[in-house]
Amino acid sequence: MSEWVLLLGGSTGHGAATAKRLSSDGYGIIAFHFDRGDAKKVAEETISEVSELTNGRCHYFNTNATSEEAMEKYIPKIKEITKGEPLKLLLHSIAFGTTTNFFGEKPVTQRQMDMTVHVMGNSILYWTQKLYDSNLLASGSRILGLTSEGNYLAMEGYGPVSVAKVAMEAIIRQIGWELGEVGITANAIQAGITPTRALTKITENWEEWVESTKKRNPMRRTTTPEDVAKTISMLLKPEADFINCSIIYCDGGESRSGAF
Ligand SMILES: NC(=O)c1ccc[n+]([C@@H]2O[C@H](COP(=O)([O-])OP(=O)(O)OC[C@H]3O[C@@H](n4cnc5c(N)ncnc54)[C@H](O)[C@@H]3O)[C@@H](O)[C@H]2O)c1
Repeated sequence: MSEWVLLLGGSTGHGAATAKRLSSDGYGIIAFHFDRGDAKKVAEETISEVSELTNGRCHYFNTNATSEEAMEKYIPKIKEITKGEPLKLLLHSIAFGTTTNFFGEKPVTQRQMDMTVHVMGNSILYWTQKLYDSNLLASGSRILGLTSEGNYLAMEGYGPVSVAKVAMEAIIRQIGWELGEVGITANAIQAGITPTRALTKITENWEEWVESTKKRNPMRRTTTPEDVAKTISMLLKPEADFINCSIIYCDGGESRSGAF
């Protein structure tokens, strides 16, 4: 097993914190991001920090990682980087989708639904299939995706992403069920509300949402990307070898807390 991890969405939020944490744990980082403008500047800061932490054992690609062309183009490069050794981790931490309601002023279109479900849900399956076929996943490899409370709650603007989360959870369960026999596990991490760039895109009222979440959360704060990164670091240890087809909550108990 090589000491390389592949992060889809590794420039900001949960993915960036995971890149930094796993760099400190000694892993080499291969990551995709898709950033323009101001987001690109933030990405560049992350990349230089990760590059320092890994002593240059890091490769970031700024492209849409969810297209079939990207998978075909980059998998051979990934194989070169790891010298053919399988990856320890495939993490899906991409946030890119349509945040609108099903009815009202801007009802979601079929194109938007298909795009959101592909980017935030189905794409983890196609990556897993192609990496597995290329022998880049093997016994001890982990597949992880990020889900949210929106997987079972309806809320303003979150419908398309909610559908993608449910699809991703089903895909992860099925991957773990099919590949468990070869020692590859697949799990979803349910993060609590985390103030990241993605959160600001869901609703204009995200700051109010953060404040009310702090009251509702038993630990009286929102989740941080570092909380999620620590959970991922823990799940890579051999002690977690038998955790499969599960949803792991990293939210301070938020999803178990009733209205305040
Ligand atoms: N922020 C929250 O409250 C929260 C809670 C639970 C789960 N999540 C989930 O965590 C995951 C990461 O979200 P975040 O909050 O860290 O968001 P973020 O906006 O900080 O990060 C998103 C990352 O995805 C990358 N990206 C976007 N489109 C891409 C594409 N087509 N190809 C490659 N990279 C792409 C961006 O460059 C960035 O690195 C998402 O799945 C999100 O739904 C977020």
